[in-house]
Amino acid sequence: MAGRIPDSFLETLTDRVNLAEVVSARMPLKKSGREYTGRCPFHDDSSPSFSVNPDKGLYHCFGCGASGGAVRFVMEFDRVDFIGAVEQLASQVGLEIPRDAEDPDARQRAALRALIAEADTLFRGALKQHPERDPAVHYLKKRGLTGQIAHHFGLGFAPPGWRFLYDQLATTAEAQKACLEAGLTTQGSAQREYDRFRNRIIFPIRDIRGRTIAFGGRVLDDSKPKYLNSPETLLFHKSDTLYGLYEARQANRVLERVLVVEGYMDVVALAQYGIPFAVATLGTALTSAHLDRLSRQTNQVVLCFDGDTAGRRAAERALDLVLPFLTDQFMVRYLFLPDGEDPDSLVRKEGKDAFLTRLNAATSAGDALLDLLEAQLDMRRMDSRARLSALALPKIARVPKGIYHALLMDALSERTGVRRSDLDERLESIRDSLPPIHVQPPVKTGHLDQEPVDTSALATEGMPPETDPPDHEDWSPAPSDVADFISADEAMHAPPERTPVPRLVMPIIGRPLPLASKVLWMLVQRPDLAVDRIEIPTHSELPNIQIVADLFLWTQANPNASTAKLVGYYSGTETGRLLSALLKTEPLVADQDLTREYQDALLNLKKQLVTESLKQLARDATSQSMSARDLHQALTAHRDKK
Ligand code: UTP
Ligand code: MN
Repeated sequence: MAGRIPDSFLETLTDRVNLAEVVSARMPLKKSGREYTGRCPFHDDSSPSFSVNPDKGLYHCFGCGASGGAVRFVMEFDRVDFIGAVEQLASQVGLEIPRDAEDPDARQRAALRALIAEADTLFRGALKQHPERDPAVHYLKKRGLTGQIAHHFGLGFAPPGWRFLYDQLATTAEAQKACLEAGLTTQGSAQREYDRFRNRIIFPIRDIRGRTIAFGGRVLDDSKPKYLNSPETLLFHKSDTLYGLYEARQANRVLERVLVVEGYMDVVALAQYGIPFAVATLGTALTSAHLDRLSRQTNQVVLCFDGDTAGRRAAERALDLVLPFLTDQFMVRYLFLPDGEDPDSLVRKEGKDAFLTRLNAATSAGDALLDLLEAQLDMRRMDSRARLSALALPKIARVPKGIYHALLMDALSERTGVRRSDLDERLESIRDSLPPIHVQPPVKTGHLDQEPVDTSALATEGMPPETDPPDHEDWSPAPSDVADFISADEAMHAPPERTPVPRLVMPIIGRPLPLASKVLWMLVQRPDLAVDRIEIPTHSELPNIQIVADLFLWTQANPNASTAKLVGYYSGTETGRLLSALLKTEPLVADQDLTREYQDALLNLKKQLVTESLKQLARDATSQSMSARDLHQALTAHRDKK
C-alpha cells in the first residue's frame, strides 16, 4: 500500500460521490422530499429511522445515532477499513487515488502477512490431515468443540517435531530470516533455528479484516507453558489486539455487546454454546487501547472477572481504566463469575440461557465502583457513609459529564444519604483541583479498526497524570499479582493522549467566529433549541466544539432551562467566560430566524465534523505505517546490539 491520501483528494471524492447512490446500492431507500429514508442497517430498526441527505453528503439514524458521510458508510456497512472504503468509492466514480509518498514499510508488511498466511494454511491443513493429528483432534473433541466451530475460528495444529514450518517455509536464507522475524521460528543455541510452535493446537489471531497476524498455541497435556503466543511484530501488538473480535463481528450483524474474557478457549467455547460475542486479551491486562478499540465496535462491553479476592482486586484496578470511557453511548459492565469457574466451564455447566441471564444481570461499572468501595466499609455508620463519598467522588470526577455521570451522582447520594447538591459542590472542588481536561476520555484516534497501532508508544506511557485522582484516597496500591486479569503495572498503562488542543477559543473582535461559537451563541439565546442536536465525537478538535457537546448534555438534563439558568450554571468557569463573551458580541441572527439558522448551523457543523474525521482517518492511516517503521527500526537496532 502506498502513502498518505491527500486531504484535497478526499474532498474531491466526497464531492463527486452521490451518497444516495452509494447507500441505495446496499439497502433499500425511499425518496422523501430532498432526502431519502430507510431502515437503519446499523441497528435493529423496525421503523425507517435512517435518513440520507445527498446534497450534504450525510446520513443519520435517529434511532441509533449512526451518522457520517460516504466513506464512513462504506466502512461500516462493508466492514472495510478506511483505505478500503476510499479505494472502493474512488473506483466507482473513476478517480485515481494520488499518494503523497510511498510507504517504505508496505512491502515488508505485505511479505510478513503473506508468510503468516502460509503458515496459517499449513497449520490448518495439519489439523485435517497430518499423520500425527489424532491427539489434537481428540483433545479438541474432549473439550467439546465441533468441527464447525474449529473451522469458524480457523483452528490448526502444529505437529510434533522441530521443523514442520521451517522445512516448508524457510527454504532460502531470506525466507529463514523472514520466518524468524515473523516469530514462526526461534533460534536455539548454536544458532540452530526451529519452529516456535510444536505439538500444539493453533489459534490464529486475526485482525479486524480477518487476516491472520499472529498465533497462539496450546499444549495438548499439562506441560508448560500452557500457551505460547507469537512475539510482537510489525503486524501484531498484544496491547491492542483482542482475540475473537473479527469472528464476533462476522457472527453478529450488529455487535450489541462484547464480552471480554481471559482465554482463547473461553472465546471459542462461548461461541460454541451460542454466545458468539466474546473476545479475549492475549495473556496481558486489559488496556485503554483495547477499550478504545471496543468502543468503536459496540456500545456495551461486559468485563468478566473471577469471583475470588484476586478477581475483585483486578476489577478495582480495571475501573481506573474504564471510568474515562463511561458515557451515555458506551456502557461497561462487570460480571463476577462464581468461584473456581471460567466462562468456558460455566457455559458448559449451565448452558447458554443461564449464562445470558448472568450477562444481563451484570453490574454497571458505576454500581461496581460503589459496591467495591462499600465492601470495605460498614455502611450503617455515618462516618463510613461520609468516607464512601470521599472515596467515590475523585473516581466519579473522571467520568465524562453527561447523563451517566449524573445518574452515578444520584446513586452516590442515595447510598450515602448526602444531598445531591452537596455532592455536586464537593465534586466541583475536586474537579477544580484537577487539570482542565481531566474528564475527557482518552482521545480517540478517529480510525476504525485497521492495522494495529504501534505499541512502542503504548508500552512506555503511564496513565496520563491529569487523569489520576488528586488525593490519596485511591484504591490501595495494586499488588503485583501477575496472574490477575489486570496486572498491576499494565492496568495503569494507557495510550498517550494526543496533546490536548485548547478546548476553548474566546471571540476576537474582527475575526469570524468559529461555527461552534455561533451555535453556542444561538444556544445561549434560546437553550430550548438544543432539542435538536448532533453527535459530537469526543476526539473532535474543532474550536469550541466540545463546549457545544457539554451544552447539549446539560440541556438534556435541564430540558426547560432559561438563558439565565444556563449562564448561571456555567458562571465562574471557563465555559461561563466564553458564554458571557458571546452574549456581548453583536447579534448574529434575528430572533425570527433563529430556529432555521440553528438547524442550518448544525448541519454545517456536522459537515465539518465529517471532514475532520476523514482527515483524521487519513492521518492515522499514514501514521500507523510510520510508527510501524519506527518500531521495526527499533527492533533492528535492538537485535544488532545483541
Ligand atoms: P488460562 O490458563 O486461564 O487459559 O489463561 P484458559 O483459556 O482457561 O485455558 P484452558 O481452558 O486451560 O485451555 C488465560 C489466558 O492467558 C494466556 C492465554 O492467552 C490464555 O488464553 N496464557 C495462559 C498465556 O499466554 N500463557 C500461559 O502459559 C497461560
Ligand atoms: Mn479454561
